[in-house]
Parts: sequence; C-alpha cells; structure tokens
Amino acid sequence: MERLEIIDLHASVDGISILRGVNLSIKKGESLALLGPNGHGKSTLLGLIMGNPRFHLDGGKIILDGEDITNLGPDERSKRGLFLAMQNPSEIPGLNSADFLKAAMNAHRGKPLTLFEFYRKMEAAYKEMGIPLEMSKRNLNEGFSGGEKKRNEILQMLLLDPSLAMLDEIDSGLDVDAINVVAKAINEAAAKGTSFLVVSHYARLYRMLKPTRAAIMVNGRIAVDGDPSLIERVDREGYEWIKRELGIEIEKEIAPSMNQVSIGVCATKEAIDNGK
Ligand SMILES: Nc1ncnc2c1ncn2[C@@H]1O[C@H](COP(=O)(O)OP(=O)(O)OP(=O)(O)O)[C@@H](O)[C@H]1O
Ligand SMILES: [Mg+2]
Repeated sequence: MERLEIIDLHASVDGISILRGVNLSIKKGESLALLGPNGHGKSTLLGLIMGNPRFHLDGGKIILDGEDITNLGPDERSKRGLFLAMQNPSEIPGLNSADFLKAAMNAHRGKPLTLFEFYRKMEAAYKEMGIPLEMSKRNLNEGFSGGEKKRNEILQMLLLDPSLAMLDEIDSGLDVDAINVVAKAINEAAAKGTSFLVVSHYARLYRMLKPTRAAIMVNGRIAVDGDPSLIERVDREGYEWIKRELGIEIEKEIAPSMNQVSIGVCATKEAIDNGK
C-alpha cells in the first residue's frame, strides 16, 4: 500500500447517522493513532474501511492506491493488504482455528501452501505470540479469554502480513506481559514496512508503538489531525479542550435513539405504573 484515502465518508447503522464526513489519509510507513471519546465512530470507521456490511454507506469514497474500493467485499480488501483486528472478535463455534488460518492464508495466494509450509508458519506465529499451539485445535475464539482473543487477532496479522493493519483497542484486556508481546509484534511489522491505524484510549500502548501521527474523532468526524504529542495531551487533559479551543461541542451520545426503547425499560415502567 502506498496510500489509503478516506474522502467525505458518511455512514449509518440502523438508520442512525454515525459517520458524518470523515476525511483521512494514511501513507505507507505511517502509524496513525486514532483517539476519541466512546461511541464517536472509531470502530465504525475501521469496520467501513474493512467492508463490514453491517454499516450502511451514505456517501463518500475509500481509495486505496488510486483504486476505488468503496464497494469491494472484505475478502477483496483483505487480498489488497488491509487487515482489521476487531475490538470485539466474534466467537465462531464449529470453525477450527487452524482451518480458518489456513483458508485465510491460502485465499491470499495463487498456489495453496503445503501442509508442511502452513504448519511451520503457524507454529512460528503461535510461538511469537506466546500462545500454546494446542489452542490451534480449538474453535475460533470460542471460550477464549478476552486477552486470548486479542493475542489471536495479532497472530492472524502475523500470518496474513498486511500492508495496512487496523487495530481496534488491541490493548484492552491484555495483561502486562501480553501487551509487551503484542507491542513487539506490531513494532517488528512496522519496521518491515506495514502501516498502522491504531485505536486505543491509553497512552501506555502508544508509548510502546510511537505512532508517527495522531488524530481525534469527535461527533463522527476527524476533529484534529496532528502530531503524536496529541496523545499525551489527551492522556493528561481528556477532550474538554477541544470544545474550548476548537468550538466543537462534544455530543454525549451520537446515536441516542438506541437507548429509547428496551424491554427492560418498558417492563420497569409498567411495574412502576402498576405500583402507583
Ligand atoms: N446497531 C446499532 N444501532 C444503533 N446504533 C449503533 C449500532 N451499532 C453501533 N451503534 C452506535 O454507533 C456509535 C458509534 O459506535 P463505535 O463503535 O463506532 O464507537 P467508538 O468510537 O468505537 O467507541 P468506543 O471508544 O467505545 O469503542 C455508538 O453510539 C454506537 O452505540
Ligand atoms: Mg470502538
């Protein structure tokens, strides 16, 4: 990948507008830290870049090395070098981890790997991530602990060797040793030329990764795009200064209608009404 460009991206989930004009670009060799308050659209943006069909695109374009990939499926994007480590990786009962890894790696290649080649690569990746190889026999993420799921995402990154890896809160749930292992794997990939888009709420991970740039997403838009010193500022001061200095009012919930109806609320209301 030489350059990924996000142009005026608008998107919604279940009719609720989440992204409201995102402009962002990432060049080869860059490592971009993406911060922002909870619920302001970071995961939605990463999901859209990867082609998650759950999000509805209302406008804008995603251009990868001059090619418009806005309407490509996630498999095609993956073949072009994009990778997403999800914030909440799904458990897939019935799908053996090793079978999944082999299928994903072979889908990227013209000629399938021999069983021996695959096993060698898989064994090395499990070792690098400090995951017992026994876990390759288990179903994908099924019953994995929070930290195991996160390590397993980076294991997939190592085996698929993307040119742009997007990591969504990869540090959440990791113990201290695991965070070191994950950071080392990311830094080694970056040294070999992989670009990164890293979402995290914590300066700790960023101190280990040393991103080249940082951006802040607020209200479904990129409010600030600047140098990595933004990370320490957010760590010290939070996001209040954005309103003070940029005049951007930070919305409490950018998707408020989600909370309007729930069975719990209706049942509680009925109980209160009956008790009157
Ligand atoms: N199915 C849905 N229906 C309605 N709203 C949704 C749906 N899925 C996501 N949203 C809302 O979209 C908004 C953006 O969510 P997103 O996951 O992109 O936020 P985020 O910036 O990644 O937050 P966090 O830092 O907490 O991970 C949230 O308010 C979320 O509740
Ligand atoms: Mg998120």
